[in-house]
Parts: sequence; structure tokens; C-alpha cells
Amino acid sequence: MVIMKTLYKRALKPILFKFDPELIHDVFVAGGEIMGRFSLTRGLIGTFYRYNGPDISKTVDGIRHHTPIALAAGFDYNGRLTRILPSVGFGGDEIGSVTARPCAGNDPPRLRRCIKSGSLVVSKGLKNEGVDAFIRKMKRTPREPGFVLGVSIARTNDDKAVGLEEGIEDYATSLRKLVEANVGDFYTINISCPNVHGGESFAEPAALQQLLERLTEIRHDKPMYAKMPINLPWDEFREIADIVVEYGLDGVVIGNLNKNYDSLRHRDEAPADYAGGLSGEPCRDLSTDLIRHTRDHYGDDLTIIGCGGVMTAEDAMEKFRAGADLLQLITGMIFEGPHLLKDIGHAYARNQSWIRGDKPRRAGAGAGRQKVLELV
Ligand SMILES: Cc1cc2nc3c(=O)[nH]c(=O)nc-3n(C[C@H](O)[C@H](O)[C@H](O)COP(=O)(O)O)c2cc1C
Repeated sequence: MVIMKTLYKRALKPILFKFDPELIHDVFVAGGEIMGRFSLTRGLIGTFYRYNGPDISKTVDGIRHHTPIALAAGFDYNGRLTRILPSVGFGGDEIGSVTARPCAGNDPPRLRRCIKSGSLVVSKGLKNEGVDAFIRKMKRTPREPGFVLGVSIARTNDDKAVGLEEGIEDYATSLRKLVEANVGDFYTINISCPNVHGGESFAEPAALQQLLERLTEIRHDKPMYAKMPINLPWDEFREIADIVVEYGLDGVVIGNLNKNYDSLRHRDEAPADYAGGLSGEPCRDLSTDLIRHTRDHYGDDLTIIGCGGVMTAEDAMEKFRAGADLLQLITGMIFEGPHLLKDIGHAYARNQSWIRGDKPRRAGAGAGRQKVLELV
């Protein structure tokens, strides 16, 4: 394992980091998809990276997660990695964000590295093939038992979905199609994408209320979460979380990219004319603090999926300590290497005595607003 870590950090990463980040991302997704097709390559990768210690599985909202760490939305936009990710040590994959229509993405460059600051500047603009293509792909892709598939849903990033009504119907179309096709173990509503046409409007209370009013009309029995912005002060964040609870969603992913470039350890790595949000280290403390406040305030009413700046096993433990039930990550895997997943798995196993255990679904979750009010 030590050899693999050294090999990644000393040999592979310096080479990879010489090339355009989006090109490397595309190569890894294409390579990962091919390797996922064969049991030989899955087995080989698994020999190095699959977690093989004591049981760290966890049941949250009725879903058993083999390991409590999943790939966050934004790496596997089109569901191409679901076969290889279990071998890399992930317990699940949050795919997307997928949109009702295909999106070409923002103008390049869509991805830049801030190497000294442990961060990526992300301006993908939801580049994905659309929900129909995604459903077709999932229908023909075998899945390892126990590997959890989340689907992140966002509004199509084009000129046709800029109004509030159009935007809401866009989300509703994707959710309805996913529900009808029975694809995905849980859904995450991405209300906080910082770099799309029409901005971040669904993180505003009135718009969010309308969105959830519509989405909770679509009946299904799967957990549904909201992906939260992390640049809000606590009282504004709480206003949004209150609506998430009111509409019977199961929980929150905390959270999305950081829009504040002053959070970079080396501010000069991202000039003001860069477009996009920051991942990695600049998200770490903002997200952990919000996780802590959310757990303190809402107790067991919300499942919390911690996401943002998990670069080491200690960062992961910090998020569990703050009250996260599950974790997701991207940037840590890119900067530190895939062995990070195994490191987190072992740290989790050592610390299970104080980490929150299984979390049952709360009464009324998934029932939509009316039923929740009836229960009060
Ligand atoms: C290349 C890239 C694309 C992303 N795209 C999405 C997206 O489509 N939907 C979403 O909810 N989050 C997206 N994110 C945000 C991540 O899911 C995550 O919230 C953020 O990167 C913080 O986690 P990290 O520090 O472990 O990377 C993206 C992140 C990256 C790096």
C-alpha cells in the first residue's frame, strides 16, 4: 500500500498534473469504464484499492452502504464508472448532475488546478448526456450487489430552462423519468450549482419551496436529499434546511463548491477573472462547520452526507465527528490518490465506537409536505 501511495504521489501525479485537467478526467473516465467491463481488471484494481478490513457497512434511510464513502456528483456525469468504483474502494456513486436535456457544458477551460491550494476551479456547467441516455445506460449496465447508486438532478444548463417555471419542470421531468424507470437508489436535488445559466436561484427559499412542492408530487419511496450551498451564513442556510425538512426530504449533502476565492491558501492561484467554484481544501472547514450546526440544530431529522475537502482520513473523521452519516469526495482522490478511500475505511473501522451508527428513515420522510403537516 505504501508503494502504491508513493507511486501515485511521486511518479504518476506529477505526470498527470502536467496535462489539461479535463483531458485527464476524460481519459480516466474512459479508462475506468473499460476496466470496469472485465472481472480481471476489476480484480486487479481491487487487489490494491478495495477496502478489506472489518465490516464498516452502514444502513442509512433504509439503504445499506458497503462503505460509507461515495464518489461525489461531478466526476461520473454519465454513469460510466459504476462497475469499476467498488474496486477502487467506493461504497457508492452519486451520478450526474443529470439534466432533462443533454448539456454541452460551459465554454472551456471548464477545469483548472490550484495545486498549492489543493483545489480545482470547476466550471463544467453540467456537461452531461441527459437523463434519457443515462437511464438507457443504467438499464444495460450490471451492478455489483451492495454498490449504491445515487442520482443528482439539476436544471438543464441552456437558454430554454432559465425561467422559474421552466426550471422546475426541467427537474420534474428528470425525476419522473428516473422514478418511472426505477433507476437510482436515492435522488439528490442539486439546488446549489454555482455556474449555470440562471444562477443559484433554487437556493432561495421562495423558489425552493415551489420546486419541492412540485417534486414531492412525484411519488416514490426512495430517499431524497438536497445538495446545499456552503457560502451562506448559518441563519440563511437554516432557512433552506427548514424547507427541506418541511417537504419531507430525507437529508442534505453539505455541500457544493465554494464560490469565495479568498478561501484559497494561495489566493494568486485563481485570478478574479476565472469562472467557477472551488473544490477541495477551500470547502473543508465551511462544510464541516455547517455539518456541525446542522446536526446540533436538527438532531436526527436530517441525514447528513458530508462533502467538501476530504483530503485525508483525518479530514473524514472530522466530518463524522461533526455529525455526518456518510461522506462523498472527489478532489481528495485526485490530489492524494485512490488509496485515500482505503485509508478512510481503516480509520472508520478504528473509530466506529464513537461514529454515528445506522440511521433509520425518519417518520414522514418521503411523504411530501401535506402528509408531514398531517403528522404534526
Ligand atoms: C469536476 C467537478 C464537477 C462537479 N460537478 C458537480 C455537479 O454536477 N453536481 C453537483 O452537485 N456537484 C458537483 N461538483 C461538486 C462536488 O460534488 C463536491 O460537492 C465538491 O467538489 C466538494 O467535494 P471535494 O472537495 O471532495 O471535491 C463538482 C465537482 C467537481 C470537482
